[in-house]
Amino acid sequence: MKSYTFGTDYYPEHWPKERWPEDARMMREMGIEIVRMAEFSWQKFEPREGEFHFEDLDEAIEILASEGIDVILGTPSAAPPKWIIDRNPEIQPMDQNGLRRYFGSRHHDCQSNPVYREHIRRYVTAFAKHYAKNPHVVGWQVDNELGNSHNDLCYCDSCQNRFRLWLREKYETIERLNEAWGTAFWSQGYDDFESVSVPKTPAAGGLNPSLALDFKRFTSDLICEFHAFQAEILRKAAPDKFITHNLMGFCSKPNYYELGKQLDFASQDQYPGGHFLADPNAYHGDRNAAELDFIRSVKHQSFWVMEQQSGITGWEILGRAPRPGQLGLWAMQSVAHGADTIVFFRWRSCAMGTEQYWHGILPHNGVPGRYYRELSALMRKYAPLLQEMHGPVPKAEVAILRSIDQEYAIDIQPHHPDNSYISEIMTYYSALHRANIPVDFVSDEDDFSAYKVLIAPKHFLMNEAQAEKLKSFAENGGQLLLSWRSGIKDDTNLCHTGGVVPAIMEKLTGVKLLEYDCLRDTEGCVEWDGEQYSCLHWCDILDLCGAEVLAEYGHEFYKGTPAITRNTLGKGNCLYIGTTMDDRLSDRVVRELCGPAGVSPLLETPFGVEAAMRVSDNKEYLFLLNLLGEEQKTGIPAGFEPWDREAFDGTLSPYDVRVFVKELQ
Ligand code: GAL
Ligand code: ZN
Repeated sequence: MKSYTFGTDYYPEHWPKERWPEDARMMREMGIEIVRMAEFSWQKFEPREGEFHFEDLDEAIEILASEGIDVILGTPSAAPPKWIIDRNPEIQPMDQNGLRRYFGSRHHDCQSNPVYREHIRRYVTAFAKHYAKNPHVVGWQVDNELGNSHNDLCYCDSCQNRFRLWLREKYETIERLNEAWGTAFWSQGYDDFESVSVPKTPAAGGLNPSLALDFKRFTSDLICEFHAFQAEILRKAAPDKFITHNLMGFCSKPNYYELGKQLDFASQDQYPGGHFLADPNAYHGDRNAAELDFIRSVKHQSFWVMEQQSGITGWEILGRAPRPGQLGLWAMQSVAHGADTIVFFRWRSCAMGTEQYWHGILPHNGVPGRYYRELSALMRKYAPLLQEMHGPVPKAEVAILRSIDQEYAIDIQPHHPDNSYISEIMTYYSALHRANIPVDFVSDEDDFSAYKVLIAPKHFLMNEAQAEKLKSFAENGGQLLLSWRSGIKDDTNLCHTGGVVPAIMEKLTGVKLLEYDCLRDTEGCVEWDGEQYSCLHWCDILDLCGAEVLAEYGHEFYKGTPAITRNTLGKGNCLYIGTTMDDRLSDRVVRELCGPAGVSPLLETPFGVEAAMRVSDNKEYLFLLNLLGEEQKTGIPAGFEPWDREAFDGTLSPYDVRVFVKELQ
């Protein structure tokens, strides 16, 4: 596959044709090599059933090609045209309250509806055939940001039918479903699969957690199957083109590990200053890094950014203006975490529609401004690096288990209003990020043995096979971390009742859970060798059955009982953390885990200076990223030379990026 450095998301249909050659020329001059197009333009390309008009798109592709720019085409199934909706209004999705979501925006489609599937089949087949032999069209994107519709879509009759089929396949008999869901509670038993409904709201009270979990799994499977349905048509027509998808970081609506199996490579949409942030002024450097690491880990290979922020963002409300240097810093943070190609969203700020204020590289008037100047300088400088560095990824010895199944179950029962599966993951990730220790994410299916340290927070649902896999990781010399709410439930979200909790793991953790306390509106305290730390949200009250105590609680009736323990088994250890830690405590726990494993930081830097590294067969590329808006000082490790040969005196200006290289022998 040909490699690309920088690109942009382009919507020629929003602009007069006369402008297209100028756009293409400006793109080439800037350093753009690849463009993604067409993912929302069904109505233009098929204005009436079976009447395809790809002429304008052909022309735009030709114009781009004449400037040496290749193209990725998206299928438009996130925005079916009005003529389809008028004919088949039943394809409009239904929300959790049973209300239709109508035409007028996007995502007005149900992904299971068989009639809609036929419309998609017709369009995608024609589209794929038309571009199959076009050498300038190098890849496809199916739909757009699958899963990015309201969380509460779709609960229509078609989805309900599919849910019943899914359940029938999973449980085979209704008796097994009744047992797995614990329907004896509140008289919820079903007589047959046809009487099971999708979980519409408002339910009269709290929803059965086992039903809720299966519905989340079903929805993910449906979305992945929706992707597969289109991907199959595209692959058949054009086997030499790649298929990727623009994923959204930690989004879990579809299980990205599963979706990733269908992709040639993963892509990310990276908006570090998105208007949707609840706290736009806060520091998000760790979260941005974590999502990039996760996307790389979907396939454990380098990835693309299909939409990288190119200006101030917003729909009805806006985010903060990217500060000078920040757009480049964000793009290079993506590169540092393993992105080979950075495609900026979007080329030009749109004059019409919902996204008028989601700014592009060019402003509304098409005349280059600050965003253009900053990004074109970035492209000029770093295109040679991206050309040379294609493929290598960070080398992580530490993995965090992000299990989508655990996340679903915890999302259904977060236990504490301020805690979530992701917030717990971020407690550990942020500590590793502060220490500049590279991290991979792993799925339940991944091989853990490639890592020295495995952090598996909140392993809520536990079965024999998983417990065994974790145990053998530790026995074989791994440093394993488990935390509160591990081993509580079985695969169908029923509580384990057979003896000790954390279940099936007595030998692994060396602790027994006696009771627990939920720290509502209060903080707790942990004492470790006379040092005091804060703890939050939850406290497991533990008894020992083999583990040693590292730290104790310093508050409440359980003062003096174990908060953090270590159990040695085989050649490794299992740390158990009974609470949510403050930053100082999580920093210490990370040292406690990584020390014995021989995992050390890439570099010690002041807070806000990130060090990240990509490693090829013969070179190490070290990235220093100043994530903050103030000047900072830092050293570099021995043996590294500035990649750009510009002298480095240890000073990083606000949002500065420096890259260093070391030849490996
Ligand atoms: C992304 C989406 C794009 C565009 C952009 C700005 O999430 O993929 O199509 O909508 O946000 O809102
Ligand atoms: Zn539906």
